[in-house]
Amino acid sequence: MIPRPLQNRSQTRHSPPRPECSSAVPPLSSDRLGCSITSCTDTLGLSIHAFALLRDLIHERTGIMFDDDKRDILADKLSTRVIECGFSSFMDYYYLLKYDPAAKDEWPKVMDALAVPETYFWREVDQIRALVDHVVPEHFKNSPATTFKIWSAACCTGEEPLSILIMLNESGWLERAPIQVYASDASPALVARAKTGSYRERSLRALPPELREKYFTKHGDLWQVSPDLLARVKFATANLLDPEVENLATAHAIFCRNVFIYFSPQAIRKVLNVFHARMSPPGYLFVGVSESLLRFTDSFRLLELGDAFVYTKC
Ligand SMILES: C[S@@+](CC[C@H](N)C(=O)[O-])C[C@H]1O[C@@H](n2cnc3c(N)ncnc32)[C@H](O)[C@@H]1O
Repeated sequence: MIPRPLQNRSQTRHSPPRPECSSAVPPLSSDRLGCSITSCTDTLGLSIHAFALLRDLIHERTGIMFDDDKRDILADKLSTRVIECGFSSFMDYYYLLKYDPAAKDEWPKVMDALAVPETYFWREVDQIRALVDHVVPEHFKNSPATTFKIWSAACCTGEEPLSILIMLNESGWLERAPIQVYASDASPALVARAKTGSYRERSLRALPPELREKYFTKHGDLWQVSPDLLARVKFATANLLDPEVENLATAHAIFCRNVFIYFSPQAIRKVLNVFHARMSPPGYLFVGVSESLLRFTDSFRLLELGDAFVYTKC
């Protein structure tokens, strides 16, 4: 595939000047394209060729893999951005992401568009209990003066790091030992929502009622988490495939749950190599209960802690 030259791209009939796609400029009204967002989305069409190019580029940058049968899903997720950028074809959007300097500002929006923001408080809680009942006590027995660092590496809207903090507080650890919780996600929109600490009822569905009463205040339809708890999380936007995660990965415990299910084996191995190289020993890694790592690495071994499974560095 020979890339279309940049100067020609900006002159195509369907491509308005690129600055209109940058984050500094409000999104284009769909009227400019002579259609509503919905009707344009219906007619954009993602050809097999454009799908293959976009899919590979997205995989390279984010680790997320769209199999051949997911073409409609990818088209659905990206079509609004294509239109907001003023394009009427996915190929133009591909050229923007691949060759244009404005791509730097567009990738965070791609992450927003691709994110699957499904999470809730007390999800897979046995793992959090294993952290609080086994990993944290062991750490402070061996290194009482060293801050224990926990990183929620795909934190979505923040339910995971806050669940960890609630359980640590319930066990008395927050007041008696130095513990720092970091949380990041590749989607800036989700991190911004996490920082508000404001949740719909659905997010709290698995949280015991007494903990809901203790840590949340209801405002209209929303539940606001205690500001003290929220202030204990250091939030950041970070893509697991970027070198910027190397500092965060020095944590003693990493929660990277329910994100590898979207990644290719190659991307999972890449992230695991960074974790393995950077984690503070002994290094505990929590992944989603459906995400076995055994076929991807022999640098971590599986441990049973309480009612949960956790990986630890070999
Ligand atoms: C289903 S949520 C999981 C949330 C939480 N960890 C849990 O288990 O409930 C998956 C999250 O992974 C994030 N994500 C996807 N690709 C990522 C990447 N390359 N780097 C960092 N986060 C990513 C998405 O934005 C989304 O918030």
